[in-house]
Amino acid sequence: MISKQTLKKLAILSATFTFVASASAQRTVSDEAVSYYKANCISCHTVGGGSLVGPDLRDVSKRKDRAWLIRFIRNPKRMIDAGDPYALKLLKESKGQIMTTIPGLSAAMAGKILDMIEVESELPKGKSRFAGLSIPDRPLTPEDITAGRDLFLGRTAFTRGGPACVACHTASDLTGLGGGTLGPDLTAAFARLEGRKALGAWLSAPPSLVMQPVFKDHGLEGEEILQVVAYLKNVAESGDAKAEDMTLAFLLCGVGGAAVFLVICDFAWRRRYRSVRRPLVNKSGTHV
Ligand code: HEC
Ligand code: HEC
Repeated sequence: MISKQTLKKLAILSATFTFVASASAQRTVSDEAVSYYKANCISCHTVGGGSLVGPDLRDVSKRKDRAWLIRFIRNPKRMIDAGDPYALKLLKESKGQIMTTIPGLSAAMAGKILDMIEVESELPKGKSRFAGLSIPDRPLTPEDITAGRDLFLGRTAFTRGGPACVACHTASDLTGLGGGTLGPDLTAAFARLEGRKALGAWLSAPPSLVMQPVFKDHGLEGEEILQVVAYLKNVAESGDAKAEDMTLAFLLCGVGGAAVFLVICDFAWRRRYRSVRRPLVNKSGTHV
């Protein structure tokens, strides 16, 4: 049995420890960590704003110990490939999306980022500067789709001079117009990156090794992100409509095919039936 006295001492000790830990965390927030996080992590994570492509990082230090987190942040794929059970659980919860391995991310920087996340986690939920993004939260309009398509195709230039997406990507409504092949076809990107919020965050700081250097100093503005998202959403939805048309065509094809089959059977069977019936009729005729 633990005495009441010991419990009291333990409580005081742990309170002191938490106080010291948070005080020391507060001291170690570095601007370096903030700008590193903004450039490399913000596209997939919030702190207290819900999950995007990756989980919400609020209180992540309470979920797993620091040594593990540093190892994971520095090389997520290796941890997953090694079959680490917690990493596999995270992977499953993120529907198979693997966190990008960022080359040259030191253990020291990973530690500074975790310190920063700890401090941000102490703020009330939603109050962290990393809880949301500066992408406008208004309904998408048909004008957004057109504007987004023009940006995608380079008919309108991005304000900060980023290259047109079509240089490296295509989408299902651009057949005939071509489009680049360096990057993947983006028809399914809206669904794959799980909708408006996550795709918008993704585009605010693309965690693609090819796109990041290209857009680093030429990022998309909030309105532009919204328009490109509207366009990709539309492409995804009309892609679905096309798929539905195909299903219907298949179905009709099936119905049509079945009808033809029945006619053939009917024809074959009627002849058979007749050929059986005729001698019977004839036979019975001779007897009456
Ligand atoms: C491309 C999207 C992406 C980027 C960029 C990204 N992450 Fe992740 N992160 C994920 C996903 C997805 C997971 C869940 C594990 C998995 O599926 O790989 C994850 C998991 C984590 C975890 C464990 C979360 C938990 O609940 O235990 C931490 C910590 C983390 N990321 C930190 C970071 C930091 C720090 C950066 C920037 C240096 C970063 N991530 C950049 C997608 C990303
Ligand atoms: C210089 C070439 C290049 C340009 C320009 C470019 N991308 Fe990419 N993009 C890529 C590559 C390559 C990938 C695949 C990830 C990787 O290998 O880094 C990619 C991946 C993506 C993905 C993730 C797709 C997925 O399913 O995971 C999205 C979304 C995306 N790009 C959107 C855009 C948009 C929107 C634009 C225009 C603002 C754009 N890209 C401009 C090269 C480019």
